[in-house]
Amino acid sequence: MKDGTIPEQLRKHEIPERVAVVKGSGDLPKIRVETDLSTAEIYLLGAHVTGFQKKGEPPLLFMSESSQFAPGKAIRGGVPIVFPWFGPREGRAQHGFARVTEWEWEGSSASSDGSFTLRFRLPDNAARADGSPPANVTFAATVSDQLTMELAIANPSGTESLSFENCLHTYFAIGDIAEVEITGLKGTAFIDKVDNFTRKVESAGAIRINSETDRVYLDSTGAVEIHDSRRRRKIRVEKSGSASTVIWNPWVAKAKQMADFGDDEFKQMVCVECGNVAQNKITLSPGKSTSLKVVLSSQPV
Ligand code: BG6
Repeated sequence: MKDGTIPEQLRKHEIPERVAVVKGSGDLPKIRVETDLSTAEIYLLGAHVTGFQKKGEPPLLFMSESSQFAPGKAIRGGVPIVFPWFGPREGRAQHGFARVTEWEWEGSSASSDGSFTLRFRLPDNAARADGSPPANVTFAATVSDQLTMELAIANPSGTESLSFENCLHTYFAIGDIAEVEITGLKGTAFIDKVDNFTRKVESAGAIRINSETDRVYLDSTGAVEIHDSRRRRKIRVEKSGSASTVIWNPWVAKAKQMADFGDDEFKQMVCVECGNVAQNKITLSPGKSTSLKVVLSSQPV
């Protein structure tokens, strides 16, 4: 896309008036989806969903106005795909290479229920270039009055097992962090990353965020809800194939350190991330596969 034109091979998965590839920020290819009930957008860079909005509702996903859009750089906001490791790794990209790799767009399809599904594949050479073991990694996003995302990972080896972490690192758009409650995690053990990785148990039925928050909830398989009283909206995060839930808000000082995040944007976002990280990391036997599925829905309250 250097000369600003869309490569012809990307056009073949378009669906007239519903699915179109356009030039996004930084001239990167972006796919726009329009259903009767909603709109969505996905960059090939990272197979990154950067927008989902039900008609008649504010956007569901937060996007930073300071995000970079450049090959090899992570997009700030939306749904970064974290694979094959979560967090820092010495000498390598934080949260793995999947989110900074351009994925292949494998196809799009329409369903009789009015939803549209886009399918992507992480190119094989991404793992090779990183020196990581091979893995067959695909991502599908289905857009309707809700957003369904499925990250499937298969171990192609006939002899070796494959270990990894994965996560759909969703940034939710909220009215004001001071008026948000997160429910569904009471009684769950978590690693408190801002308190020296201390292991704790969640005592709150409704979690409120009023300082830097970075928590990995373990063995957490249930749905989580975000109650946004400013926007009078309840967001529901349902999942399968995920044993970890991560809650993250950088708050004031961390936000100021992040070059691709506005100083005040922490008020308008909260991450509720679904995956398998830390002691919930996955090991696949030869030939086995796993699927991480997340369904995001919302309703006015
Ligand atoms: C969260 C981590 O998932 O992602 C945090 O728990 C991290 O520790 C945050 O700061 C953002 O990571 P990044 O690499 O996108 O700045």
